[in-house]
Amino acid sequence: MLYQIYPRSFADSNTDGIGDLRGIIDRIDYLEWLGIDAIWLSPITVSPNADWGYDVADFYAVQPDLGTFTDFDELVADAHQRGIRVLLDFVPNHTSDQHPWFIDARSSKTSQFRDWYVWADPSTDGSPPNNWVSSFGGPAWTLDSKTSQYYLHNHLSEQPDLNWWNGDLRDAFDDILVFWFDRGVDGFRIDVCNVIIKDAELRDNPPATADDPLDIQLFGQRPVYNANRPEVHDVLRRWRRIADSYDPPRLLLGETPVDDFTDLAEFYGADLDELQLAFNFPFINATFDAVAMPKIVEQVETFLPPGAWPAWTGSNHDMSRFATRWAHDDPRQARAALIMLLGLRGTPVLYQGDEIGLGDTPLEQKDLRDPLGVRFFPAYAGRDAMRTPMPWRDGPGGGFTDPAVRPWLPLGDTECNVESQLADPTSMLILARDLISLRKRTPDLNIGSYAALPAPEGVWAWRRGDRHAVIINCSERDASVDGLSGCVRVGTDRARDGEAFDGALQLRSREGLVAEIQP
Ligand code: NOJ
Repeated sequence: MLYQIYPRSFADSNTDGIGDLRGIIDRIDYLEWLGIDAIWLSPITVSPNADWGYDVADFYAVQPDLGTFTDFDELVADAHQRGIRVLLDFVPNHTSDQHPWFIDARSSKTSQFRDWYVWADPSTDGSPPNNWVSSFGGPAWTLDSKTSQYYLHNHLSEQPDLNWWNGDLRDAFDDILVFWFDRGVDGFRIDVCNVIIKDAELRDNPPATADDPLDIQLFGQRPVYNANRPEVHDVLRRWRRIADSYDPPRLLLGETPVDDFTDLAEFYGADLDELQLAFNFPFINATFDAVAMPKIVEQVETFLPPGAWPAWTGSNHDMSRFATRWAHDDPRQARAALIMLLGLRGTPVLYQGDEIGLGDTPLEQKDLRDPLGVRFFPAYAGRDAMRTPMPWRDGPGGGFTDPAVRPWLPLGDTECNVESQLADPTSMLILARDLISLRKRTPDLNIGSYAALPAPEGVWAWRRGDRHAVIINCSERDASVDGLSGCVRVGTDRARDGEAFDGALQLRSREGLVAEIQP
């Protein structure tokens, strides 16, 4: 059970309106109470924040806004004392354009670090070297006037892509991993780890077709040559060897935005020698219904190599929160989605606020800070709506910062907050805590297998291990699942906890529960 923290928006200890490491330390008791096993912190290293930490200017130093190494070491020690492991974000695809490597690289064609980035001459008409588009829109190339070559950037032009064909660069990233592992870090979430290696010949991508998924159609091309290259697996195996050289082994969790389940499976390695966990984007992007979701889960169960362990998440700092996207702000459905996430075989990853059913916070244009929102508003408002500060209590400042301080992003409505849910035994927060605890002490739910159970239309039911089942009514209609006998362990309707059922289980619309069943 993993919990993602977006440090700038978690808790502000020094009342500058920005969350920080000390704020996380202050809330570590809460995390322990919730029962999570590990936290993943979005980037905490030095960054000019063109892309809020995902443009790293120094891989070896803590961003001053967020704290110091002393804070970091204290956070790791405090977390470890409570049995909570700490994962950081590893950003190997690109650096900031302010990183000393890039400053050197762009200074001349013969500079020491020139080959650490991807440079190419213009086409004969002066246009970019090939047709690749940036995942943030527009061409993936920017002409650098000093040396009259283009450099590649799969994201902002302030995020030049690194050249993973360069052996010295590979060594440099090994050193970064070792530095943080030696400092006590238990693992990394690896940013866009499927795109780090590009085609050595920089060939044009083929055009998208009507059969391609919508996101690919939007870009107008299939990312054949700038993503998912086979050589990425050599790099992942290399990192895994480093992670495995520690005792206990360190964890590698990849951001793997691929649509195909055979591609997803490959990131685990045929011999399970690559990532231990890989994020599943078709799942995040699926609609929350009893057809799309089970289909994805079945495919994961089919395609992942034996022994591989899935990861399940519904929200993160890039995607609309699941309380909004899956549940359309219907609290019943958000609770059912939480049961689903915590009831599948694999590692659930909650994003801060998921446990209280926090939805997206719509912002006005003037408040946007994400470069994508700033660039594309109103067609796309960017990712700020899912990055607003954590509401710890109701009222100004929301317990995130001092009431007199203006937080770096507006808080939004604080009616949904931790404090009031802590006081309400029927709240989503208490449901989350109870589910996590049940999962931990019940081997069926923790490590048991997944097997779909027969269920009427609109209902998704599956068995976990020998004696447990998870049943979710995704529909607007009440339903009856026949052929089941047992006892409710934890349900979205807490009044049903402990209720016995014999031969049939009745569910109200949008209701979900975990039950012990007769085999
Ligand atoms: C994925 C990260 O999650 C996102 O926030 C970032 O903008 C891009 N990678 C680029 O690093």
